[in-house]
Amino acid sequence: MRREFDFLVIGSGIAGLSYALKVAKYGSVAVVSKTELKETNTAYAQGGISSVTYAPDSFEKHVNDTLIAGDGLCDIEAVKKVVEEAPEQIQQLLNWGTNFDKNDDGKFDLHREGGHSEYRILHHKDNTGAEIQRALIDEVKNHSSISVFENHFAVDIITQHHLGKVTEPWMRDIECYGAYILNKDNGKIETYLAKTTMMATGGIGSVYQTTTNPLIATGDGVAMVFRAKGIIENMEFVQFHPTALYNLSERPSFLITEAMRGYGGILRRQNGEEFMQKYDERGCLAPRDIVARAIDNELKNRGEEFVYLDVTHKDAKETKQHFPNIYKKCLSLGIDITTDMIPVVPAAHYLCGGIKVDLNGRSSISNLYAAGECASTGLHGANRLASNSLIEALVFSNAAAIDAVEKINNTVYNHRIPDWNDEGTSHPEEMILITQSNKEVQQIMSKYVGIVRSKIRLNRAYDRLEVIYRETEALYQDSKVSEKICHLRNKINVGYLIIKMARKRKESRGLHFNIDFPHKLED
Ligand code: FAD
Ligand code: SIN
Repeated sequence: MRREFDFLVIGSGIAGLSYALKVAKYGSVAVVSKTELKETNTAYAQGGISSVTYAPDSFEKHVNDTLIAGDGLCDIEAVKKVVEEAPEQIQQLLNWGTNFDKNDDGKFDLHREGGHSEYRILHHKDNTGAEIQRALIDEVKNHSSISVFENHFAVDIITQHHLGKVTEPWMRDIECYGAYILNKDNGKIETYLAKTTMMATGGIGSVYQTTTNPLIATGDGVAMVFRAKGIIENMEFVQFHPTALYNLSERPSFLITEAMRGYGGILRRQNGEEFMQKYDERGCLAPRDIVARAIDNELKNRGEEFVYLDVTHKDAKETKQHFPNIYKKCLSLGIDITTDMIPVVPAAHYLCGGIKVDLNGRSSISNLYAAGECASTGLHGANRLASNSLIEALVFSNAAAIDAVEKINNTVYNHRIPDWNDEGTSHPEEMILITQSNKEVQQIMSKYVGIVRSKIRLNRAYDRLEVIYRETEALYQDSKVSEKICHLRNKINVGYLIIKMARKRKESRGLHFNIDFPHKLED
């Protein structure tokens, strides 16, 4: 099966759907999503979306907070772009029907989170992402020029490589002609030719054992672009959220939003002592790299498995009103957050790096854009400020949409692209090999490439992963393509990139902490 679209969009989170809605007036659009449209990291977002709304907040303060969190590696132009364009994009979300909470005076109820010097987080109770996802899906379903392909899995983007030409990372003339997509309902790989392709595949949390991300977050976009020889950067900066609910039987880990610390929540040792002031004068509202490392240190020193987040001193009615979902979730596990402290641990949460893009959302491969969590725009630097990712996705999808629309009339389909050839392959008999390797990858990444790293841990991770890489590539060459083997392959690629870039960084900065290089190099 061959299909042709002006705009191919891989991913149905905030980045993919907002882009699709913006380009839909100008041509045919395909939105491809590997499960259901609504199963995205976006739908899990709790705290909210940051944007300067009222004085005394200002663009300058939001820029400054973002730069401080980013620890010297932010691109100032990207930061200014996101902060200054945020209010317009929030208005766009409102126009698409998103509801944000308001106070009795009709003004937006703004939350505050770690690293923010002002109250600037717009939110919908404690499930902002689900509300945004709902509004976007409603809009997309009403658009006649957007075709939606659920249960369709992008295997690889198509470049000159598929015409038999050797491509190399340093070549600047690599072009994207679309993608090979596995139709999970019939097991066939279909050719989607596109004039422009948007990569919006989200995060990589599933590369780790414990994560707040849903299972779809396997880093597919980063891996596809890496294999196509596109530029990937800043992969060592993986953000661990300090407060995931401690519940070993649950995957993904349920998030206890940072807004709860903004609301006055206090982190305590199991014996009830506060500890954050010992690590940072901002206490529980220090940026999350500092809080996550502090908790990690407390747990290791004390041999304990969790710390507590305490909001029992706050007004019970208000707590339930602000955090209805967290209240309900914890109560289902026998924890009444108005009277009981919440056991929490850090969990892999967000990838700051990814597919390098410019201010127009263009990747290093022609006709390929990237936005959202899979993209590295320069906004986050070495550490993302809380609630800056949903807004980044909107601003950069918008930039990419403007650029792609301009380009579309001068771009043609490449009809020479061959269909997928799987002659000589068969279904792997030993599924256990894939399942087991998957677990090993997650173990390697969690044990050796987590919150605290060292030379020896990174080297060990590299060596172990290389063995699994070789085994998996051999299996892949002989196998009919399945989502399972692609996921494993993608996680290995992502793990490799994280380890490679972590080994290269001979310092500790932002989210990357290496005990052998504990200090930051001068900027
Ligand atoms: P996603 O929303 O993850 O969408 C990715 C899409 O790509 C999915 O549709 C998926 O199916 C599809 N996909 C992936 N691979 C393939 C493939 N191979 N083929 C086809 N489709 C594919 N950020 C904030 O700013 N504020 C918050 O309050 C906040 N809270 C968070 C809470 C949690 C629990 C989590 C996990 C994240 C939170 N974040 C928050 C981060 C934020 O939600 C994400 O960074 C953002 O939603 C990513 O959006 P996206 O569009 O890039 O990707
Ligand atoms: C949270 O609600 O704590 C998550 C916010 C974010 O990841 O930006």
